[in-house]
Amino acid sequence: APIRSSLIDPDGGTLVDLVVPETQRASKVFEAESLPKVQLAKIDLEWVHVLSEGWTSPLKGFMRENEYLQSLHFNSLRMKDGSLVNMSLPIVLAIDDETKGRIGSSSHVALVAPHGDCVAILRSIEIYKHNKEERIARTWGTTAPGLPYVDEVITPAGNWLIGGDLEVLKPIKHNDGLDNYRLSPKQLRREFDRRKADAVFAFQLRNPVHNGHALLMNDTRKRLLEMGYKNPILLLHPLGGFTKADDVPLDVRMEQHSKVLEDGVLDPETTIVAIFPSPMHYAGPTEVQWHAKARINAGANFYIVGRDPAGMSHPTEKRDLYDPDHGKKVLSMAPGLEKLNILPFRVAAYDTVEKKMAFFDPTRANEFLFISGTKMRTYARNRENPPDGFMCPGGWNVLVKYYESLQAQ
Ligand code: ADX
Repeated sequence: APIRSSLIDPDGGTLVDLVVPETQRASKVFEAESLPKVQLAKIDLEWVHVLSEGWTSPLKGFMRENEYLQSLHFNSLRMKDGSLVNMSLPIVLAIDDETKGRIGSSSHVALVAPHGDCVAILRSIEIYKHNKEERIARTWGTTAPGLPYVDEVITPAGNWLIGGDLEVLKPIKHNDGLDNYRLSPKQLRREFDRRKADAVFAFQLRNPVHNGHALLMNDTRKRLLEMGYKNPILLLHPLGGFTKADDVPLDVRMEQHSKVLEDGVLDPETTIVAIFPSPMHYAGPTEVQWHAKARINAGANFYIVGRDPAGMSHPTEKRDLYDPDHGKKVLSMAPGLEKLNILPFRVAAYDTVEKKMAFFDPTRANEFLFISGTKMRTYARNRENPPDGFMCPGGWNVLVKYYESLQAQ
């Protein structure tokens, strides 16, 4: 008998699953062959993956114009019953003039993966203008040159967007040795139920885990136990889609995360490590809403947020692109995220007196050391160790090996 779940409800009430049942696969594949083809870029396939598993519930496909406009202007979607769900990033598929011409008046199209297979059908399509400047300005709050997702994804994309209902012909696999970690929201919910979790707290990240991150996670666990929860489970949830060139690649991060569990920095008994298949926008307070919303769908009812989530340096000026506190402030007020418990944290830094990562104390600011990604790279390049207590030795070794391999190139 199915276990009765006490987990948080997915947005819209039911978890969307856009993978066609196996019994219908052959006929749908046959139909797809006869439809106009839309060639997907690698990142489009990442979004097909995200949509197919219901991370975007209740969204059932690439956005049509009415959904796009709501997302862009309201960071949320209005449901038929009047309620709101959060949806802060436009999830859209761009096509060029030639493709639009080929589609003509067809109602449905087939989506073709970079490797050449038809992976999905997009039904009852709608084609509308891709005003890139407006999309970029509203999503990032700037059109400054040098935003990774803009330069690599939006600028080269076509001038039209195509929305519709998505039917995915079979589960999307990456075949990179990490698919076992790519648990869908349905699989994660099953796992949380199996473990009889009475609270699930999610930690989104795209960087290696240092002891400052661990401080946030372990502190949360303590707080949840104090609140009376008996079995809080941590979802350590590294982002697995597109990231910028100087971020640490996914395979290296996964190895690093394994060491963090092996070295006991996080408790393997109460932690699930899985990959979040979404691409990264680096859109700060706008994007962190997406990061949180998607975790509701995966069954998390608590969400940890610290300094400058989904942030980066300004591409042309010497400052952070976003106010590092705005992510957590926005998250606590975001439309459609009321049912999610946001756990905001102060910035953690290396306390040179206590010789460990600790919450920054402004009254003795000069005793704290901020160790950025750039600083980590410098340590590794100079074969220096970061200060004791910054990161577990097993995890640090993984990074040293990675940075050495970069040097050798
Ligand atoms: S993110 O793009 O996934 O948000 P990152 O992997 O750097 O970036 O951060 C993961 C989470 O840890 C985010 O919630 C972020 O705010 C938080 N965080 C990262 N570094 C610190 C820090 N030094 N102090 C407090 N929180 C931090």
